[in-house]
Amino acid sequence: MSTSFDNAAQVLTPPEPNLPYLRTNRAGEMRLDPGGLTAGEDGRIAALEATRTADLHVDATDCALLPGLVDCHTHLPFAGWRAQEYEQKVTGVPYEEIARAGGGIASSARALRETPDDAVLQQAADLATEMLAHGTTTFECKSGYGLSRDGELRALKLAAELRARVRQQTTRTALLAHAVPEGYTAKTWMDEVEAMTPAAVDTGASALDIFVESIAFDVEDLDRLGKLAAGAGVALRAHVEQFSTMRSVPVALRHDARSLDHLSAIHPDDIGPLASSNTAAVLLPGAEFMGAEATAPARDLVDAGAIVVLATDANPGTSPVFSLPLIVGLGVRRYGLDTREALLAVTLNAAYVLDHAHDLGSIEVGKRADLVLLDSPSEHMAYRLGHNPVAAVFIAGQPAYVRSDAEWRITPAP
Ligand code: NIG
Ligand code: FE
Repeated sequence: MSTSFDNAAQVLTPPEPNLPYLRTNRAGEMRLDPGGLTAGEDGRIAALEATRTADLHVDATDCALLPGLVDCHTHLPFAGWRAQEYEQKVTGVPYEEIARAGGGIASSARALRETPDDAVLQQAADLATEMLAHGTTTFECKSGYGLSRDGELRALKLAAELRARVRQQTTRTALLAHAVPEGYTAKTWMDEVEAMTPAAVDTGASALDIFVESIAFDVEDLDRLGKLAAGAGVALRAHVEQFSTMRSVPVALRHDARSLDHLSAIHPDDIGPLASSNTAAVLLPGAEFMGAEATAPARDLVDAGAIVVLATDANPGTSPVFSLPLIVGLGVRRYGLDTREALLAVTLNAAYVLDHAHDLGSIEVGKRADLVLLDSPSEHMAYRLGHNPVAAVFIAGQPAYVRSDAEWRITPAP
């Protein structure tokens, strides 16, 4: 079935086709012009204009039409929640202290171990439904709450199985070095990581990930993981400079990491080299806000030419946030981003992190017709903080979510 999107107030398009990413200091070249588009029967964008003869018509009057949002950093699937830790945190107990007392990642690992597969998958699928209603058409899953060889491989297999239960496209990242499991040192756990890497990659994981922090792994472990990722032919990603300045950036850049995530405590000397590399800077304003963390120097990264990305970091601990529109609102306020910079950060540049920019992340002929229709111009996404501006979501050109007050917009051809 072909679908024509008619008369949108704004259609977000890149300045040229086939971009692998767009450095954020060029975001001003993104166009937000009035127009329409047509999705063909093959689920791909067929034309950057409406077509009278299409089977389905979407009246996009007064709406912005965006590419489907891409959440390139989530910790799905996980089990249960950690609301009591949030209460501790907001009343003054630091995350590191909660973690050292057996909370944090270790407590989510216990919950995952004790929860049957079906219940883990159901929780993740329900969250994916919530994400769809907030415009997310592609998301990343991470392991990391397994904390044993079997546990990590189980988490990756569950992430693979999740694909059959959700409408979105997903990718898998093996976060094998997330916390040091009991009975190990960081170094002996890295031996385990090395041993399980081939099996992790066999589950379909496209990246290895690590948490470099005073309470987790150090830059030597990062260096080792970089070699393991290169040997296994998968991308290197890393949680770095979240609470402490560990100087992970130069090490990760030597391994040509695909992304470095968090960066709230990045050393000023590392901004220039990161910005001129092909490594994306994934900023996580939900975790920063919920954890009262330092603010990543986003403006400096943008101005120096970095590939800036925003993501939810959706997880039961530091960021129980699943809405990319909310993340855009927080990012715009915290970082001083404009609308085009923020939208680029949750579309094309996020798709680059997941190695899907050839197929997703921007409105151009030939790409998958994963699209989001907003109930307003795109500037409202950040401005009306907490309002969900998503009126409808289309996956491969077909309606996948339609808010009840937008149903009238979608009609068969007259
Ligand atoms: O991205 N920083 C480490 N990992 C997660 C938190 C995981 C958790 O607290 O459960 C993060 O913030
Ligand atoms: Fe994370």
